[in-house]
Amino acid sequence: MDLLIRPIQLEDAKEINDLRRMEGIMENILGLPSETLMNSKSYLSKEDSLRHQFVAVLKKDRASEIIVGTAGLHVNELPRKRHSGTIGIMVHTEYQGMGIGKQLMSTVLDVADNWLMLTRIELEVFADNEKAINLYQKFGFEVEGVKKKAAIRNGRYADEMLMGRIRNEE
Ligand SMILES: CC(C)(COP(=O)(O)OP(=O)(O)OC[C@H]1O[C@@H](n2cnc3c(N)ncnc32)[C@H](O)[C@@H]1OP(=O)(O)O)[C@@H](O)C(=O)NCCC(=O)NCCS
Repeated sequence: MDLLIRPIQLEDAKEINDLRRMEGIMENILGLPSETLMNSKSYLSKEDSLRHQFVAVLKKDRASEIIVGTAGLHVNELPRKRHSGTIGIMVHTEYQGMGIGKQLMSTVLDVADNWLMLTRIELEVFADNEKAINLYQKFGFEVEGVKKKAAIRNGRYADEMLMGRIRNEE
């Protein structure tokens, strides 16, 4: 698989918007069916030194490339929480289960661990999102709690789990 992981850029907005609304992704990332290309463009065009986001680009042939996933790290802006950050990730449903999620996670965690030296990474995930929970546990995240009825998903309230990962000091 000819896969390249690179920082996100403004030109990626259309494909990111498509991914965010994709069935199999949207319901797991707090997306909405109404999200517009403008939403993605405006998000990406805001300069934000606390955001570190990457895309996974698959080269299909000599002429065509497709964005098959993205992962981002956001450093907490509060001065007393600057040692922590949150992450988010999604992979195109047709390309899941091929190791792309692991490559994206390794990339954002390398920034967190080795370039920002963050101590704590946290995230929220739907309590029944087994694929994502397995991925996070593989990278050292542990369940820290359950937030009952924390978010709406397709006409129901659903529980979320809070997961955290503490970087081991060498
Ligand atoms: C979660 C997600 C990012 C994983 O991406 P992926 O590219 O499929 O993941 P990988 O192929 O790299 O697999 C990584 C690990 O995830 C877990 N996993 C992947 N597919 C799985 C499946 N069908 N069932 C259970 N666990 C699975 C495994 O632990 C796997 O590691 P292993 O292959 O060494 O066993 C992807 O499923 C996704 O985008 N889901 C929709 C959006 C989402 O839920 N985002 C997270 C919101 S909190």
